[in-house]
Amino acid sequence: MRTLVTILLLTLVCFLSYSSAAPLALRMLNRKVCCTNSTQMHIPKGKITDVVMTPSDCEQQAIVVTTVCDKKICIDPNWTWAKNLLKEFEMSTANNSAPSAPFNVTRCTEKV
Ligand SMILES: *[C@@H]1O[C@H](CO)[C@@H](O)[C@H](O)[C@H]1NC(C)=O
Ligand SMILES: *[C@@H]1O[C@H](CO)[C@@H](O)[C@H](O)[C@H]1NC(C)=O
Ligand SMILES: *[C@@H]1O[C@H](CO)[C@@H](O)[C@H](O)[C@H]1NC(C)=O
Ligand SMILES: *[C@@H]1O[C@H](CO)[C@@H](O)[C@H](O)[C@H]1NC(C)=O
Repeated sequence: MRTLVTILLLTLVCFLSYSSAAPLALRMLNRKVCCTNSTQMHIPKGKITDVVMTPSDCEQQAIVVTTVCDKKICIDPNWTWAKNLLKEFEMSTANNSAPSAPFNVTRCTEKV
């Protein structure tokens, strides 16, 4: 029984990590992410599918950027570029619409 549960959990984790077409509910689940560190790194907007602030219960606040390769990058929330990015992304996805240009316009190529 325990093994079965473990396998199910592992399957779920794999699905969450690798499915880029995860349904909305799973995407929301996927959004609950904490960062242990953050960095200042310019990510081309075309490669961005999601930008979200970490939940307030996270020890370290960061802006989490998800790329078209389903990679999550923790960005310094005090960095002006990142703050503007978050604002721009929120505007682009107002009304729960999918991110529109300039976001999410390139496909995953070199795993960034
Ligand atoms: C966190 O990031 C800073 C700056 O990039 C770096 O100097 C530090 O070593 C990192 N800390 C950890 C625990 O990775
Ligand atoms: C951002 O700034 C606040 C207030 O100055 C500071 O407490 C926090 O540690 C900073 N966060 C990062 C990731 O540098
Ligand atoms: C969001 O909805 C409001 C009212 O329905 C509309 O005026 C606005 O243009 C919409 N914004 C986007 C980005 O679709
Ligand atoms: C990004 O664009 C691709 C291809 O147009 C689409 O399949 C995918 O659902 C988009 N991602 C998001 C988060 O809307």
